[in-house]
Amino acid sequence: MSLTKVPPTTRGRDLNHVAWLYDPLIEKLSFGREQRFRAKTMTLLELKPTDRVLDVGCGTGTLTLMIADAIPGQKEIIGIDAAPKMIAIARKKAAIAESAAQFRVGIAEKLDFADNFFDITVNSMFTHHIDRELKQCFFREAWRTLKPGGRLITADIDRPTTLLAGAAGWLGRYLLLQPELEDNLRGQLPALMSSAGFVDIQRLAHLHGLISFFRARKPLGGQAGNAPCG
Ligand SMILES: C[S@@+](CC[C@H](N)C(=O)[O-])C[C@H]1O[C@@H](n2cnc3c(N)ncnc32)[C@H](O)[C@@H]1O
Repeated sequence: MSLTKVPPTTRGRDLNHVAWLYDPLIEKLSFGREQRFRAKTMTLLELKPTDRVLDVGCGTGTLTLMIADAIPGQKEIIGIDAAPKMIAIARKKAAIAESAAQFRVGIAEKLDFADNFFDITVNSMFTHHIDRELKQCFFREAWRTLKPGGRLITADIDRPTTLLAGAAGWLGRYLLLQPELEDNLRGQLPALMSSAGFVDIQRLAHLHGLISFFRARKPLGGQAGNAPCG
């Protein structure tokens, strides 16, 4: 009998098929703005040396590695992604950088971690890959696995604030046939976080008329685990 764990799968849009293209493409498509985006995310994380951090939908691990670099003594910096090929690239990058960051194949809607474990859960350009039901599951799972008082930091597509950004966002939704973008473009992320039990939800910054950075908190009294989805 084999004891090999079967990797979880998602109906979300994982990027396994284009993992090899992700880093070079992001650099080109962002016209050199990726650095600014990552730096902003890092600032808003307000990391402390003892923070346990989970990066959900970590892709090739660029942000996870920056986090591990910023708090070198911390072993619990973990990136998860549904795409095994993304995780393979992230692990290679970690080995080259001699980073302590850990990478695992995993899905946001069923996080394989104990209740009340992390100080911070971050997700960057991830929620627009999953439909509304999975977003609800993800936010509930983020709530369950965060410590009371723990923070959720989300950087993602939000309601556009310029005509150009609106055109780009809605064109993207239809050209890429990606209905999962709609909750984001309609500005519904804060309501979804709130219905999962998060409080103090703030839009901290907004970039390029299309991307917002949110911070939400699990209340100090929020001990009990949310029931898992599905
Ligand atoms: C646009 S990429 C963002 C990657 C990275 N966070 C970044 O900032 O560069 C979105 C990632 O979400 C992953 N993904 C999609 N559905 C997922 C799910 N249900 N659980 C975990 N990861 C998922 C995809 O495989 C992809 O790597």
